[in-house]
Amino acid sequence: MYIGVDYYPEQWPGEALDRDIERMIDMGVNIVRIGEFAWHIMEKAEGQFDFSFFDNVIAKLKEKGIKVVFGTPTATPPAWLINKYPSILSKDEDLRTRAFGGRRQYCFNSKIYYDYTRNIVEELVKHYKNEENIVAWQIDNEIGHEGSDMCYCEQCHEGFKNFLREKYKNIEELNKAWGTVFWSQTYNDFNEIPLPLKTITYHNPSLILDYNRFRSKSINAYVNFQLELIKRHKGENQQITTNIAGGFLDKHFDHAEAVKDMDFASFDNYPVWGGLKEPIPPCAIAACHDFIRGLKEKNFWIVEELMGAQGHTVIGYLPRPNQAKMWSYQAFAHGCENMLYFRWRGAVFGTEQFCFGILDQDDKKGRKFNEVKKLIEEIKPFEEVIKSDIKADVALIYDYENIWAWKIQPQSSAFDFNNEVMRLYAPFYSMNTHIDVIPSSKDFSKYKVLLVPVMMISDESVQKKLYDFTKNGGTVVLSFRAGIKDRNNNLYLGETLPCAFAELAGIEIHEIESLQPGQFVEIEGLGKYKGIKGNSEVWRDIIDCTTAKSLFEYTDTFYKGKSCITLNKYGNGNVYYIGSGVDVNIVYLLAKEIVENNDLDYIETPLGVEAYSRQIDHKKYVFIMNHTEENKKFMDINLKPYESMIIEQK
Ligand code: GAL
Repeated sequence: MYIGVDYYPEQWPGEALDRDIERMIDMGVNIVRIGEFAWHIMEKAEGQFDFSFFDNVIAKLKEKGIKVVFGTPTATPPAWLINKYPSILSKDEDLRTRAFGGRRQYCFNSKIYYDYTRNIVEELVKHYKNEENIVAWQIDNEIGHEGSDMCYCEQCHEGFKNFLREKYKNIEELNKAWGTVFWSQTYNDFNEIPLPLKTITYHNPSLILDYNRFRSKSINAYVNFQLELIKRHKGENQQITTNIAGGFLDKHFDHAEAVKDMDFASFDNYPVWGGLKEPIPPCAIAACHDFIRGLKEKNFWIVEELMGAQGHTVIGYLPRPNQAKMWSYQAFAHGCENMLYFRWRGAVFGTEQFCFGILDQDDKKGRKFNEVKKLIEEIKPFEEVIKSDIKADVALIYDYENIWAWKIQPQSSAFDFNNEVMRLYAPFYSMNTHIDVIPSSKDFSKYKVLLVPVMMISDESVQKKLYDFTKNGGTVVLSFRAGIKDRNNNLYLGETLPCAFAELAGIEIHEIESLQPGQFVEIEGLGKYKGIKGNSEVWRDIIDCTTAKSLFEYTDTFYKGKSCITLNKYGNGNVYYIGSGVDVNIVYLLAKEIVENNDLDYIETPLGVEAYSRQIDHKKYVFIMNHTEENKKFMDINLKPYESMIIEQK
């Protein structure tokens, strides 16, 4: 198992290297990541390749038995390149060119950037082909992060038109699919099609969705270009990955597609960032891990795990003693099997002077050093447990095109896609059930329960999989606006909402209402939920049951008696439909019912304590994380604030 740090030897005086390596060894490090921003060190002027700086670093690491992940440096093109070819720079929605100076300013459709990427990546990988100390290549760094997934330059415009030509073949097909007769937007030729730049009101939602598809295709084409180059030139045992940034489902490219042909997926885990006064909730951190694990349906690496406070110009919350260590345990619990910390030592210059690492600018071993050292000692005996496969009976299903469609038309100013995911995920998380977060293209048949948040758009093939899954006895949870749109981002003429899922859910929806921030409607339970009241927000579908029964109803004057939550028996299975942004407490009641009815594994824990079970043969282990600053008691163990551990369950 690898545990290590992200190291930037080029940022320190030469004499620091030996001492750093010595202290890394003392801490227990056996891997470092290097190189991902060091293009200029490797090619200081066009064609002048020189890898001697890293040759020396790698040789020294090798002497001490420390392995290497090497990042291709393409997230930071050098000034000489941008000055020679300013067309490499991407443009924002206002057509402003992103200036040289930050990072990731390149356009994914720049042919010139492809050429220079080829040059540096080929030279680099060929140079280290026989270097067995390099165990993995990392492609670029956090592809598409910090807004770099969007560009509106001329190269993208041309690329978009070609993408549409290929997709629709003739312009009439496109006009039909997009409904361009609306507002006289009919095109005579593909050349007339605009980019979705700022305009008066909004662009056609079909056009914008296609632009998102085009973004995803462009980004993944660039990733694959690097992947193929590395594959062609690398040493036999060197693996390939790319590090996926935080932000969960907020990017404009399909991540599963990006890592499809890589050896493993990697994640950068930052539960808190600049400007945040507290970390994101434990369930949101967990969902990110489950999402990364779901990309290749196997365990993953973390190549950047936070230890200190972070921020570029504004710094965020300081992780409390043992809190970041506990986040590492949580990551291991959810399927991370090799981990590198960001970063060995905080930089003293440059944009990231306030992105703190294990060591600070005083260069002394302090609390964070001791925490990581202790963690490495503690987890050593559990390597096999950490590497074991995770089995989940529950899957949360997402589809990027659906996510983008919601970005295009959020329909309520209170809508946030990630929140709607968490509304279904959090109650199952709080019962410590294992959950896979997977794209809708994956196989559903191994699960017992599928959580399908706000699936406004889905493929017919996915709809069929959901119907079959339910027929065969599975339980599906749908939430509002499910099934209402086709793949072109258009509504269905002549069909009653929720169209594609009306039969599955056994309901009809004739009226809908968008709720704005701070606007709530009351709901009240029926049957076993009688007497239970709660609030719902964001949106409401006003539901009539056909074959379903009502579990919760609205109580307001006009819609009293109309359903908000329903349950339908379909085939041998069950379908819950949640027509509004219902209180998590109420979703929790449904989750409890589902867990019990489906005989799912769960663990009851005190509030703020997470327990994640693993099994090897007949031995059961539990990862225990106290996410709170209070003492807690669980399984007869007194947990100190932020304490975490792995125990074997006798
Ligand atoms: C990550 C990024 C690193 C560094 C870090 C700072 O998103 O990959 O290069 O910027 O954030 O927190």
